[in-house]
Amino acid sequence: MLTTKFKIIDNEPEKEYAQMVSLEHRKKFAQFFTPFVIAEFMANWILENKELQTVLDPAFGLGIFARAIRQKNADCLIKGFEIDETILQEANAIFEHEENTSIFLKDYMFIDWGNHYDGIICNPPYFKFHDYDNKTVLNEIEENLGLKLNGFTNLYTLFLLKSAYQLNKNGRSAYIIPSEFLNSDYGKLVKSYLIENKLLRYIIVFDFEENVFDDALTTASILLFANDNEKSEVEFMNVKSLDELQFLQTKIQSYPKSKADNSFSFSELNPDIKWRAYYQKQNATQFKNLVPFSTYGKVMRGIATGANEYFTFNQSKAKKYDIDEKFLLPCITKSVDVSGVFFTKENFEELKQQDKNIFLFNATEQTEALSKYILKGEAEKINKRFLTASRNPWYALEKRPPSPIWVSVFNRNGLRFIRNEANISNLTTFHCIYLNLFSVQKVDLLFAYLLTDISKEIFNDNRREYGNGLHKFEPNDINKALMVDLDKISKTDEKQILALFFEYRKSELSGNPNIGLLEAINGIFVKLFSS
Ligand SMILES: C[S@@+](CC[C@H](N)C(=O)[O-])C[C@H]1O[C@@H](n2cnc3c(N)ncnc32)[C@H](O)[C@@H]1O
Repeated sequence: MLTTKFKIIDNEPEKEYAQMVSLEHRKKFAQFFTPFVIAEFMANWILENKELQTVLDPAFGLGIFARAIRQKNADCLIKGFEIDETILQEANAIFEHEENTSIFLKDYMFIDWGNHYDGIICNPPYFKFHDYDNKTVLNEIEENLGLKLNGFTNLYTLFLLKSAYQLNKNGRSAYIIPSEFLNSDYGKLVKSYLIENKLLRYIIVFDFEENVFDDALTTASILLFANDNEKSEVEFMNVKSLDELQFLQTKIQSYPKSKADNSFSFSELNPDIKWRAYYQKQNATQFKNLVPFSTYGKVMRGIATGANEYFTFNQSKAKKYDIDEKFLLPCITKSVDVSGVFFTKENFEELKQQDKNIFLFNATEQTEALSKYILKGEAEKINKRFLTASRNPWYALEKRPPSPIWVSVFNRNGLRFIRNEANISNLTTFHCIYLNLFSVQKVDLLFAYLLTDISKEIFNDNRREYGNGLHKFEPNDINKALMVDLDKISKTDEKQILALFFEYRKSELSGNPNIGLLEAINGIFVKLFSS
């Protein structure tokens, strides 16, 4: 019999719980809850198994999936595992009159390997490799699945693999996890395994304008599995909003008859590439004569100090501690300090006058004032920080010369490149782009290209999503990304591009950027490189 409490078909228990415990506690156990509409969508996939008698939720939380299942099926046996006593108590209170649901205070990864289920439904903990005892868990996987995985593997993919293994014949499984592993290096082995066991049927990727999990900055995808022989292909789908899930529901309900729009057979899927290629239009395919960005240069992260509050200086602070300007390294410390795409000596002077933090402490000699400031750092234990402790002396700056071009690390509207005409250093807020010998003479042509929409479109194939529309590029994402082959541009076209570029530069520096000129440059590149 279902009690009224048990019939909760919204996120109220999760909301109440989030008010009751600290965010720290929730983070410790990775307690980010599934929105009820998503839980229902996933439950419906499981419920389509007409032989459904046993269901497992390996990371039970407050039982959102059990609540969704019980709307339609009162009889199946539901088993849950939960590692946190506090949340388990609350879950037990919700399910206290529910005979067919049992929740156990156990770590899922270490028990229950011998049992199989008709349905497995889960929102696993999103622990990265350094947040859990990954050696012991990886051993467990190796022993039971004969699978040796990379030490960087996130815990949620291990939950996923174990559950795929625990599916009964005709069993169904639904997992909601960050999409990250689909496009990461450590995900390759996991993807190989998913290809080999042939159980994966759908990958539904949320399209990031919306944060699916209220307080976790992460991207999400739903993976649906079926242990049947009905299909030997995986269909990829994108969803832009929760409303769109309704449409997908109808399609998925007609499995295996549903007509696939964007499917790839298991033999077609390549575990070694970013699977974004299967669910997102790849911009690079529209262009010809592309080469890796690393043909022209190398992207490296900016200077990491390990204690920005100590190492960064403005003029007032320099005066206060009597530090001579020759012991201060000119350096951009915040991306907001750079507004245009050309950063000139005049821009730097302005920031200096505005007393912005645009210097780094750079004690290259021994003077009384420098020694005093170093002692102050030691008194504040700055020398014992993670990065400073590994340097000799601890206050030495990383040797990283100024780079001619910067690129922003986090982006909302595509990559932002800046020409560092002032020749100053930068912290990790920007990556540095160093040009090789061949491209140094082409710096203006290269930079003109980097300002165009076509360059941003192609770079976007290699971005990482961070949820909420935020994209991050690691240095290697850019090194490996493609760009147009500058050698394929004729002297006449080059001349025309450069003329437009210098005119644009002039307009930008006069405070009135003429976007039409950028569009004209973009037009030339599109004409030359469209396939
Ligand atoms: C992301 S939450 C999902 C909760 C709920 N199923 C939902 O979707 O709203 C993951 C839950 O798994 C629990 N958990 C974390 N590590 C676990 C483990 N090793 N074994 C079992 N449960 C675990 C956490 O305490 C948390 O309640």
